[in-house]
Amino acid sequence: MSLRDLSIRAKLVWTALGALLVVLGVATTLSLRYWQSEQYALTGQQALMAVAAARGPVEEALVHGQVGLVREELRALTARPPAQGYRLVAADGTVLLSSDHGEEGRKRPGPPLPGPWDIPSGGTVVGGRGGGPTMSAVVPVSGVGGPGGRAVLELVLSVKGIEDAIRRGRAFGLALTGLLALGYAVVLGTMLEREVVTPMRQLRRGLARASAGEPGVRIGLTRRDEIGRLGASVDRLLERDDEAARLAAAQQRRLSEQAGFAEVGALAAQVAHEIKRPLAGIKSAMELIAQEYAMSDAERELLGRIDGELEHVDETVRDLLSLARPVGLHAQPLDLNHVIDGALARLAGLPAMGGGAGGTVRVTRRYDPALPAMEGDAARLEQAVLNLCVNAAEAMPEGGQLTVATAHEDGTVRVDVSDTGVGIPPENLDRVFKPFVSTKPMGTGLGLPLVARVVAAHGGRVTVESDVGRGTTFHIQLPVAAMAARREVEA
Ligand SMILES: Nc1ncnc2c1ncn2[C@@H]1O[C@H](COP(=O)(O)OP(=O)(O)O)[C@@H](O)[C@H]1O
Ligand SMILES: [Mg+2]
Repeated sequence: MSLRDLSIRAKLVWTALGALLVVLGVATTLSLRYWQSEQYALTGQQALMAVAAARGPVEEALVHGQVGLVREELRALTARPPAQGYRLVAADGTVLLSSDHGEEGRKRPGPPLPGPWDIPSGGTVVGGRGGGPTMSAVVPVSGVGGPGGRAVLELVLSVKGIEDAIRRGRAFGLALTGLLALGYAVVLGTMLEREVVTPMRQLRRGLARASAGEPGVRIGLTRRDEIGRLGASVDRLLERDDEAARLAAAQQRRLSEQAGFAEVGALAAQVAHEIKRPLAGIKSAMELIAQEYAMSDAERELLGRIDGELEHVDETVRDLLSLARPVGLHAQPLDLNHVIDGALARLAGLPAMGGGAGGTVRVTRRYDPALPAMEGDAARLEQAVLNLCVNAAEAMPEGGQLTVATAHEDGTVRVDVSDTGVGIPPENLDRVFKPFVSTKPMGTGLGLPLVARVVAAHGGRVTVESDVGRGTTFHIQLPVAAMAARREVEA
């Protein structure tokens, strides 16, 4: 596994942790260094002040040769740490007096001190940071070996205390850094888990489900940050995908329906054709009989009934043929309200409007007077509206209210045909547009399929709502622009 394959969380946590450790490490080291040199300087300064203060009495005692007094003075000077010892060193490096008596009369150990004439009269500090386990505050003293003689008074200081403190500081810094890093890693890890890993997982799971073909999957991230926006984009994509799948399924359904339709249609057309000829023969024969033979009223009525049945067969055959033929539209500018008027005029002459044994069917027109101009096949549309109106009238054998309304809204016009009839049970609602579906003893089941075909040929759609026992409304929706656009393409 290469570094690039690590999770984002691991990468971020490790990088941030590395950066934190470097920053804290450098900061700790630098501040310890600074503190160390300050500590050395301070210690040296204090020692120097103590030595300088002791110089007067020491010189005084030396002038009088009171070595015991000198020792006493110097012992007092070294009583408190970090002072460790004293030396009085001659100009040639010989130790004259020392807290370590063994050194007296020998060369001073260690690197040579600056000569007594080289040291400023206020004294100086030698050694110090990195200069071994001790450092020294030195001042020149006079009165050694005669009036002009000089020596160096050295106060030896242990730096162990400082170095110990530094070590403790380093250990503390290290522990603190580790603790901070740990806390930082936990906080960062938790935050990343919540802010990145969890929503990412949600995204991945959703996408996995969607790509496994589950419909209607949404990521559903409600957050507004980058990941939330990503989720929203994915949701929009999924939505479009669903929509496309739905359309494809509908298309497929329509295609297979059309395929079935075409097959049945071809057969129906053939049958209809076969029936049409003998039908015409029977009709003319009947007319001949009615003219040539004297008949009783009862016989005439019988003949009339036969004629009615023949008319029905003829109508069915006509419907069948028009359904089987491809819908070739003669599109022209038309006034839809006018088209509906035509359909209603034809409806008035039909037996279904007689109200039969019951009451009559009242017709109400509720037209939108400002329908936009549109194009379409007026004859076909009139037939479609008529079919709906005939069904409506037939659904109200006891009489009732038939309302035909038109309306328009952005780019579409609507025709609503409502009745107060028997209604359509819910399980039949999506079957009624299929050919040969009829609940009427003499029905053909071809009226609504024809409506659907004509409307579809105009680029529109027809839908139905119904309430059993209360009534039914069919909605035809037609695009205003579709026909015009189609003509332009053809031209
Ligand atoms: N307005 C309506 N009210 C109640 N039922 C209806 C209505 N319109 C259509 N239907 C139902 O839909 C069926 C199919 O109608 P249609 O295709 O016109 O064939 P048909 O009228 O020959 O039966 C009808 O038999 C009827 O059951
Ligand atoms: Mg019908």
